[in-house]
Amino acid sequence: MTNPRTLPSHVDICVVGGAGHVGAPMATVLASKGLSTLIYDTNAQAIASILAGRFPFIEHEGDAHLVAALASGHLFGSSDPADVARASTVLLTIGTPVDEFQNPRWEAVTDCVRALLPSLAHASLLVLRSTVAPGTTARLQAFLDAQGMNLPVAFCPERVVQGRAIDESQRMPQIVSGTSELAVARATEIFARVTPSLVYMQPAEAEFAKLFCNAYRYIQFAASNAFFMMAQQAGCDYDRIVAGMKEDYPRMSGFPGAGFTAGPCLLKDTLQLAASSGQQFGLGHAAMQVNEGLPAFVVEDLRRRYPLSTMTVGILGMAFKAGTDDVRSSLSYRLKKQLRLHARAVLTTDPHVVGDAELRPLQEVVALSDLLVVATPHAEYAHLDTGTVPVADIWGVVHRGHAG
Ligand SMILES: NC(=O)c1ccc[n+]([C@@H]2O[C@H](COP(=O)([O-])OP(=O)(O)OC[C@H]3O[C@@H](n4cnc5c(N)ncnc54)[C@H](O)[C@@H]3O)[C@@H](O)[C@H]2O)c1
Repeated sequence: MTNPRTLPSHVDICVVGGAGHVGAPMATVLASKGLSTLIYDTNAQAIASILAGRFPFIEHEGDAHLVAALASGHLFGSSDPADVARASTVLLTIGTPVDEFQNPRWEAVTDCVRALLPSLAHASLLVLRSTVAPGTTARLQAFLDAQGMNLPVAFCPERVVQGRAIDESQRMPQIVSGTSELAVARATEIFARVTPSLVYMQPAEAEFAKLFCNAYRYIQFAASNAFFMMAQQAGCDYDRIVAGMKEDYPRMSGFPGAGFTAGPCLLKDTLQLAASSGQQFGLGHAAMQVNEGLPAFVVEDLRRRYPLSTMTVGILGMAFKAGTDDVRSSLSYRLKKQLRLHARAVLTTDPHVVGDAELRPLQEVVALSDLLVVATPHAEYAHLDTGTVPVADIWGVVHRGHAG
């Protein structure tokens, strides 16, 4: 998929993985700042959607920004790797998953760059924006040096919240690091146009900083989830405890509520840190045990209180967090799997998720279920009329009470 009629021979930036959750908003912002920006992605369908002015996923007010960027004549798309050669700066936003041993897949970055080497001959900067294990930026520079490439590498991690990237990337501080002063200077030229606040670090510091941000959030959620389980086992209302803890008490203002902690980043990045510390990150592993164990806790709790084998259970929300259509690493699916072992039937619904053939309309799930479980606190469930059907609601989103 490409748009050869409008694709110029030279562009300022090519965003590789530019149709993804990080890449597409970033490319839109860069184009809106007047930088001619090419989105390159192997997903031709997502490129087609972007070129038609539609984000392939939920991005807050994204389509309006995208349409404006396309209309400005600064945004282009292609799934032909040869087109990457048109760019002076190449910005990498591909996924960086862990492998079957839960170690970072270093090859994710090198394989991508290796495949693009013929198109990087005239580039003057490679910016790594994906979240990577400590040492990756230096290794990438060494890899390029070994290929005889004279291409400075910068690491400028994405730290915005998914779904609000266009807004946040222009307000939040941007960490800038690079393997040389030249890399830092060139990256500065780009990001100074995006956000007023730049924070300078060494590449390894920046790699740790990004991972620490995510692991810390993951651990904070785990603390709340562990407290929730204790309170629930003691027969106490956790929401009332948290509300009491926070009332007029600023030190607890940032304390998160309990709920499924999932998605493509927090667990994966905690695993990256654990691997980089020789699996000596006990706190991170404890957080994983708590967060990943919460669906099983919920199911066991429900089994104690309801004759599940005689009941149809409806799960409300399959996305990994509220207001998104993203099901990557969503714990709703772990809950569904575990409930299926015990309930007579399990039905699922979500107002945003597409592509899951088992999803049913909300009202149908409510009408057919003997018990409802809120797995994702979508705003659509606030004030939901569930009649006499009991609701297990860790999040406290359905205001009729907390059965969970
Ligand atoms: N999702 C977030 O909110 C978020 C926030 C901060 C950081 N990150 C990090 O950013 C990176 C990307 O995450 P994401 O959520 O955008 O992933 P994503 O899967 O939504 O996007 C990655 C994109 O890269 C494309 N791609 C994969 N391999 C490619 C290749 N070799 N050449 C061209 N395109 C290729 C995919 O088709 C996809 O469109 C990860 O390292 C992630 O940890 C994500």
